[in-house]
Amino acid sequence: MNTKVLGFILLMTIASSKCSRILFIQPSFSKSHVMPLQTLAKELANRGHEITFVSVFPFDKKIENYRDIKLEIEGEFKVLFNEASKGMTGGVQFFKMFPIFKKLVFGYSNHTINSPVIQKLMKDEKFDLVAVGYFLSEFLLGFADHFKCPSVVFASSSHVSSLMNIVGNPVSPEGTFSAMSNSKESNFINRVKNFLIYGVEFVLFRGYFYYKSKNVYDYNFPPDRYRSYDEMIRNVSLVLVNTHFTSSGPRPLLPNLVEVGGLQVKPNPAPLPEDLKTFLDDAKDGAILFSFGSNAKSIYIPEDKQKIILKVFSKLKQRVIMKWESDVLPGKPKNVLISKWLPQDDILAHPNIKAFISHCGYGGVIEAKSNGVPIIGIPLGADQKGNADKIVEEGWAVRLDMTDITEESLTNALKEILSNPKYRDIVGKQAILAKDRPMNAQDTAVYWVEYVLRHNGAPHLHYPGADLNFFQANSIDVILFIFAVIYAAFKVIKLICGFIFCRSKKGSNEKLKRN
Ligand SMILES: *[C@@H]1O[C@H](CO)[C@@H](O)[C@H](O)[C@H]1NC(C)=O
Ligand SMILES: *[C@@H]1O[C@H](CO)[C@@H](O)[C@H](O)[C@H]1NC(C)=O
Repeated sequence: MNTKVLGFILLMTIASSKCSRILFIQPSFSKSHVMPLQTLAKELANRGHEITFVSVFPFDKKIENYRDIKLEIEGEFKVLFNEASKGMTGGVQFFKMFPIFKKLVFGYSNHTINSPVIQKLMKDEKFDLVAVGYFLSEFLLGFADHFKCPSVVFASSSHVSSLMNIVGNPVSPEGTFSAMSNSKESNFINRVKNFLIYGVEFVLFRGYFYYKSKNVYDYNFPPDRYRSYDEMIRNVSLVLVNTHFTSSGPRPLLPNLVEVGGLQVKPNPAPLPEDLKTFLDDAKDGAILFSFGSNAKSIYIPEDKQKIILKVFSKLKQRVIMKWESDVLPGKPKNVLISKWLPQDDILAHPNIKAFISHCGYGGVIEAKSNGVPIIGIPLGADQKGNADKIVEEGWAVRLDMTDITEESLTNALKEILSNPKYRDIVGKQAILAKDRPMNAQDTAVYWVEYVLRHNGAPHLHYPGADLNFFQANSIDVILFIFAVIYAAFKVIKLICGFIFCRSKKGSNEKLKRN
């Protein structure tokens, strides 16, 4: 069959499949959490669905079938927002940032739901599907009850237990390591450690965050008018997670927990803006990308380290593209181009890019891997240290912590990555592995969302184990019951034996007496 015929059939299928109104809500303050979901929304709009996307980061261009609803970050939240990104770059420890995250996640989302634009949306409109961006934000599932439609949850990072809990996916601590742990081998000590880490995660997410999130739900979706929080979690049709076993390792997954890792990596890179294109095309000796992603900001790198980094860059024959969130960079070397926002994925796809200096956020690592670009990892916090260690172990990155940056260490790291072919070879092979799938990430995600639409929420995917409580799900009640039965049986046998033994003893005693 030639491609024209195929294309025609494809068009016919698109035309004949029902177009639906889909509401996407992702109130996260982190652009890297919003972007993959936007990719999916854009794909769905492309195929004729009518998309409404609520987020802090609207597209700057108008897209057909696609409506952005911009959430404003004002007042208190603006301050918190800046503090969060400052803290993340400064490598402030997670638990110190915790109160800020908490206010941003719960406070800001609650504020969002109560904003006039959203209240109007809830009053005036109808949707066929609600897609919620997951960032400890199960309370947003109230929208699915409000619009009386099925719901899909999208998670941009790893498999945390609260995410897996949504569809009742087993956590399997015996063979799958927590994102917070960096062990790999299933020996006894590691399994004990992993079990404990999962335990902490369980208490934190299923206890504390559950309670916080339920509060926001109950306030916005009160029980006299809406179904309960737990009921709405159990009612989720599909969870899409932006991971893939080629990066995060194999694990048991239910059919309604689908890995779509690399969703934000376009199958074909988009053309670069003219200035970036010429800068890269003319980089005869290659180029390096320097970016700390969308949350952390390079302008908050400690000043002494900034100086060192620029000095080292100025001595390179390669060109450097640097994400820099200001119009000026004092002492900017000639071979460095700065920009406030960069199409990272498209830049990494350019053949002249030789290395990526990254904070090792999950998205950046996946993009580098898919494009076969080795990394110099400067992890800042959260899961980034684990990500950095993992890719160092895979053999296509070197790790250099912010505190260890000196002229010498940075020069050596660059020299190693740029001149030793090992790194490029390994990541090239990994790129091939990551792309070898029956359907690419975008098509997979679209397929499953449309599947849910086609089958009215696809309740047949619902796993019966999802409705059980902790004791039931881990068969603790069954094990206790079996022990109780064995114990009871043992007791009864003992009693019977005792009885028989007594009687026979009595009998023999009587015999003795008679003799
Ligand atoms: C949510 O916001 C409203 C008003 O903006 C406030 O009155 C309420 O206490 C908040 N609820 C929670 C659980 O944060
Ligand atoms: C969600 O709840 C509705 C109403 O009870 C039900 O018809 C539907 O099958 C449920 N969906 C899933 C996926 O459990």
